[in-house]
Amino acid sequence: MDLLQEIEKRRTFGIISHPDAGKTTLTEKLLLYGGAIQEAGAVKSNKIKKGATSDFMEIERQRGISVATSVLAFVYKDKKINILDTPGHKDFAEDTYRTLTAVDSVIVVIDVAKGVEAQTEKLVEVCRMRNIPMIVFINKLDREGKDAFDLLDEVEQKLGLKVVPLSFPIGMGYDFKGIYNIWGKKLNLFSGDTKQTVSEGIEFTDLDDPQLDEIIGETAADTLREELELVREVYPDFDKKAYLDGALQPVFFGSALNNFGVKELLDCFIDIAPSPQPKMSSTRLVDSKEKKFTGFVFKIHANMDPKHRDRLAFVKIVSGVFKRNTNYLHVKLGKKLKFSSPNAFFAEKKEIVEESFPGDIVGLHDTGNFKIGDTLTEGEILEFKGVPSFSPEHFRYVNNADPMKSKQLAKGLDQLMDEGVAQLFTLDLNGRKVIGTVGALQFEVIQYRLEHEYGAKCSYENVNVHKACWVEPESESSDEFKEFKRVKQRYLAKDKKGQLVFLADSAFTVQMTQEKYPSVKLHFVSEYK
Ligand code: G4P
Repeated sequence: MDLLQEIEKRRTFGIISHPDAGKTTLTEKLLLYGGAIQEAGAVKSNKIKKGATSDFMEIERQRGISVATSVLAFVYKDKKINILDTPGHKDFAEDTYRTLTAVDSVIVVIDVAKGVEAQTEKLVEVCRMRNIPMIVFINKLDREGKDAFDLLDEVEQKLGLKVVPLSFPIGMGYDFKGIYNIWGKKLNLFSGDTKQTVSEGIEFTDLDDPQLDEIIGETAADTLREELELVREVYPDFDKKAYLDGALQPVFFGSALNNFGVKELLDCFIDIAPSPQPKMSSTRLVDSKEKKFTGFVFKIHANMDPKHRDRLAFVKIVSGVFKRNTNYLHVKLGKKLKFSSPNAFFAEKKEIVEESFPGDIVGLHDTGNFKIGDTLTEGEILEFKGVPSFSPEHFRYVNNADPMKSKQLAKGLDQLMDEGVAQLFTLDLNGRKVIGTVGALQFEVIQYRLEHEYGAKCSYENVNVHKACWVEPESESSDEFKEFKRVKQRYLAKDKKGQLVFLADSAFTVQMTQEKYPSVKLHFVSEYK
């Protein structure tokens, strides 16, 4: 098979949702279709249990599992599907944002009763900013929930999407009879007793066919006809190009738990979802069809085994063919590296591969060469953009609690930051270090891992920081910028890349500072150019 065919075959995507909407259940059902797992329940364990904030055993266990489930690959109808795992727990949102730089499309799962929730809003916003194609799956139709039209309105308003339903429910909860698959022009019936799909789907191109009344009853048939008429009037026709441009989002209804409506979603997904897309780099747009290999690191995972201090760097292949035992240029280090045991990921296992293609993820054993965002090429000097850091939400000073172990502490912090567990800021004034995280849970994770993996101890101290703002002056030599630096000296720090950051203590300060120094731009994201 040549490169073009390999690319066309691949669909690399992520599933995003608010916790508990059904992401894990849906993932599992999709894997069942690929024959990638034998039984339901296999992916289940990849969840940080609610309230487990200080259960370190749980965190450790999760870390082990999450390597295995970081990428779940399977083949369905000749398509190679790579699902990239995105942690649902809000404290790990940063991980999810980064993973979204490596997907070509996403499926958004929404709970029919709860509607659009906070975490979904944030994640969809990141996808919208990047014009990532999205399909919406409204889940738990076997339960009482919101009216379908109200929910579609809510999705449009809260998520800023332009939806087009490609399936439509017949009843809901107790009265749930099934769905009409607008895309496939089929009727899928649901039996509440067996909690299963009753049939493979009955072809129904003409909804006026009296057979519909016989099957679902006259009232339900009439309601369905009216509702579908309304769908046709209110929503635009599905337009694949608009979907691929991120301007239109198809919606499916179903119940992941009952494996209802999932096959319809998957069949449509493999038809319309994009194969690996071109990616912008510092010098040019890199097309997946180019012969020469390029790729970038979007995730780093520390090894579970404390005796082997190596880590796994997850590389998304952007173009060309990645080959085992071949020299590739690590652009940032200006160094050639070769990998004797690159891992590919399948549903529950990983194995060494000889070749991987665009859209695939390879796991490379790393002894400290990689940072998130690093690019590998066959020699060309370019760097992929778009693995930004967002301003953390929580900040604390980090202190060395064991003076004999300061080297270990420095090394541990350095490596944990490379993994993207948190961000480190060093104050210009006195060199003190401030750790910023998305959720409070990471502080405990860091303390625990420093002690168990690096033999170092740290303590934390409160610091009054609201947001980290990356500073972009119009001119480095302007008087305004000099004045800004002098006045704000106490709050200025460097991030790990050496970029200037202003640690603002309140939203008011950010606003005032921006007004006072208009030529000094403040950004909440590290990659602002
Ligand atoms: P998440 O990964 O998005 O956090 O959600 P997950 O799949 O774990 O689903 C959250 C809960 O919702 C689970 O119940 C799951 O069984 C349930 N669920 C998922 N899909 C459906 C559906 O279509 N219908 C109904 N009625 N429930 C659904 P749980 O009680 O929290 O977990 P468990 O005890 O079943 O493991």
